[in-house]
Amino acid sequence: MRIIEAVDYEDLSRKAAGIIASQITLKPASVLGLATGSSPVGLYRCLVEWYKNGDLDFSRVSSVNLDEYKGLSGDNDQSYRYFMNSHLFDHVNIDKARTFVPNGLEPDSSRECARYDQVLADAGQVDIQLLGMGHNGHIGFNEPEDFFEKGTHCVDLAPSTIEANKRFFQKEEDVPRQAYTMGIGSIMQAAQVLVVVSGAEKAEILAEAFAGPVTPRVPASVLQLHQNVVLVADQAALGKLKERMEAGK
Ligand code: GLP
Repeated sequence: MRIIEAVDYEDLSRKAAGIIASQITLKPASVLGLATGSSPVGLYRCLVEWYKNGDLDFSRVSSVNLDEYKGLSGDNDQSYRYFMNSHLFDHVNIDKARTFVPNGLEPDSSRECARYDQVLADAGQVDIQLLGMGHNGHIGFNEPEDFFEKGTHCVDLAPSTIEANKRFFQKEEDVPRQAYTMGIGSIMQAAQVLVVVSGAEKAEILAEAFAGPVTPRVPASVLQLHQNVVLVADQAALGKLKERMEAGK
């Protein structure tokens, strides 16, 4: 794993956006694996700015997103489809027909999971998978579990995730209780994984994920088994991981 230390969130966003921008420049028909949450907002802002400056071309890019709340339509301003449109897709020249997000409105979970696995298979290997990390170490919506789920599945959100995400909703009852998420197996197929983590409140779980045992109780820990992971984190988030790595030397 390569660790890139950023001074703060702005610096982290520019550095991580630079990695995605070079991927697109080197391979214009890249398949991007995209993520939502507050962590990647700044990097999407950079990508939009560089596109507007004429430095980036998304016309041949396609994308697959990690997850979507079950029960929300793409028009709902809390859905991850809406997030992707408003933070990135609406502002760059990507062909929206080649941007994929699970369909939160499909009530039949096994049907939607099978459909999305087919979408992933048809998209081909993800060149770079962007990931944030939840406070409990979740990636996408792969919550702490007894085993790693391979493919797309429907999850019951952990109480801590509902608590963390309620800030985006009017009230806690509005947070959906379930979501569709790409599985750990699919995430691990990406050629490269780019993890962005910011803030002191993630320092402990970041250290656990990258210096602790590989366990489905901390889903991000599986990334220790991936051969091409780049972690871009700010100093506040990296504090504990650096201590653990230095102590382990
Ligand atoms: C959400 C998303 C994840 C995201 C995580 C962290 O629940 N499903 O993909 O990485 O929470 O969010 P944030 O970056 O806002 O801390």
